Amino acid sequence: MSDRQLLIPFRSNLLPQIFCDTVVVGSGVAGLRTAIGLGDRSDVILLAKEALDLSNTSWAQGGIAAALSPDDTIDGHVNDTLEAGAGLCEPDPVRLLVQQGADEVRRLLGWGMRVDRDNAGAPALGLEGGHHHHRILHTDGDATGTELARCLIERARALQRLRIFDRCFALDVLVDRRRGQRRAAGVLSWHPRHGLQIIWAKAVVLATGGCGQLWRETSNPRVATGDGVAMAWRAGATLADLEFMQFHPTTLYVAGAPRHLISEAVRGEGATLVDRQGRSIMDGVHALGSLATRDIVSRTIIRHLASTGESHVLLDARAMGSDGFRTRFPGLARMLGGYGLDAGRDLIPVHPAAHYFVGGVRTDMDGRTDLPGLYACGEAAATGVHGANRLASNSLLEGLVFGARAAEAILADDSPQAGPFTIVHEVEATERGELDLSDIRSSLRSAMWRNVGVERSGARMQDVLGMFDFWNRYAMERVFDAPDGWEVQNLLTVGRLATQAALARTESRGTHARSDFPDTSEAMAGHFLWRSDAAKPAWSPVGQLACTRVGST
Ligand code: SIN
Repeated sequence: MSDRQLLIPFRSNLLPQIFCDTVVVGSGVAGLRTAIGLGDRSDVILLAKEALDLSNTSWAQGGIAAALSPDDTIDGHVNDTLEAGAGLCEPDPVRLLVQQGADEVRRLLGWGMRVDRDNAGAPALGLEGGHHHHRILHTDGDATGTELARCLIERARALQRLRIFDRCFALDVLVDRRRGQRRAAGVLSWHPRHGLQIIWAKAVVLATGGCGQLWRETSNPRVATGDGVAMAWRAGATLADLEFMQFHPTTLYVAGAPRHLISEAVRGEGATLVDRQGRSIMDGVHALGSLATRDIVSRTIIRHLASTGESHVLLDARAMGSDGFRTRFPGLARMLGGYGLDAGRDLIPVHPAAHYFVGGVRTDMDGRTDLPGLYACGEAAATGVHGANRLASNSLLEGLVFGARAAEAILADDSPQAGPFTIVHEVEATERGELDLSDIRSSLRSAMWRNVGVERSGARMQDVLGMFDFWNRYAMERVFDAPDGWEVQNLLTVGRLATQAALARTESRGTHARSDFPDTSEAMAGHFLWRSDAAKPAWSPVGQLACTRVGST
């Protein structure tokens, strides 16, 4: 793989220079919560790759998990999170997530986030896969993320010292490597009107979300291309848990249509997964049936499809009736109506799809990476909080808790401003012919889906590594001048690492199912850690993931 530390050639002193205390890359829940946490105590720039509200957060239908009901407990939520995580959760971050998460949710309600309420006016708490208690908050049944984003964006916009740059693509973290040190010093960004710009900052936060676009079947928006993880790799920070991509069991399977998510809350309301003959496919598989954790349900569906040769299974929500479904899930009812489906009358064709990237940039419990000045939070980060499989509705919660904590850590660290300094980055011209970018993108997505999908095997993943070698020769050695090229380079970087990580884990655990290693191995209760300056991954047993900083703040 190309060992370029920066994607494009440039000379910093020829580019416009902008200064701030913190630059936050990403406008989902984690980025917004970080910016709000920094408040008006420092100068902050928040970069959104496209429109401010185009993110996995805005697309999230369900929900936010929190132990709010008087008969629920923090321990109950902790235990469900640990159970879903299949022995790989880091216990301290999990407890912190659940405990601080409940407070964060109360704060959100105080900030005016609207949630569905019961007859007594208390937040209505739903059920989702892997939870043994009703504890999921929703807004309008299936529009939780949209309302959460609205609430946070409104709050962020009121800040005097926050500048929001939308449609601004972050290419790379700039690292000060002078005098033998390493420190994040800002980002190189690109805007269609302003071109390349250097943003110097004391702290850089990667809150760039996931990389669902690496797989042909995904519930993620087109912006989810793993940019932050690839940037952290080039900058020399440690990555972890890259073999764990969570596949959501139920996305709409209509030929030619996007893979719209059919929220787990629908199964929480009693819908079940059935085959063409109407037989439940989860009977006898798990005590929670269609509400087992996502890894189990997705795997069961994929195995069922492989053994029957069918293309999809069916979600039976008819017991809710057309009016009941429309009242509980108005957005979904509208979307399904667009395809001529009425959930009260029709079975809904569904199929698993890549949904949430468990791995990411390794951090401590306050968002610090092992590159001083660089922080990460939300889906882009790996705190060990999800283990080998995330519990439903713990991801918006994660963005809230670890975004808030990253903000506090940045203020406490009060890092020095490293820039400006001169960067001259040159890239040798390549003689190789061109490959069509959209072809690479779609071949990559198909290869990942077929070979590094819900079930993987060593032989097929080795083949994919061969494909990466080929694509990399053409795409990684080139210089692109627009986001579609940089996104493909980031996808290739993260895809290759995810494949290498999946090959390294010779067992099945959580979202990572290997047909050639079907059992879970006690010896593999730990995390692979990846760094661009190391030939091989390091190993971190469970209980020790939290990042140890190198160098001073
Ligand atoms: C869903 O509504 O099923 C998605 C919620 C999540 O990813 O936790």
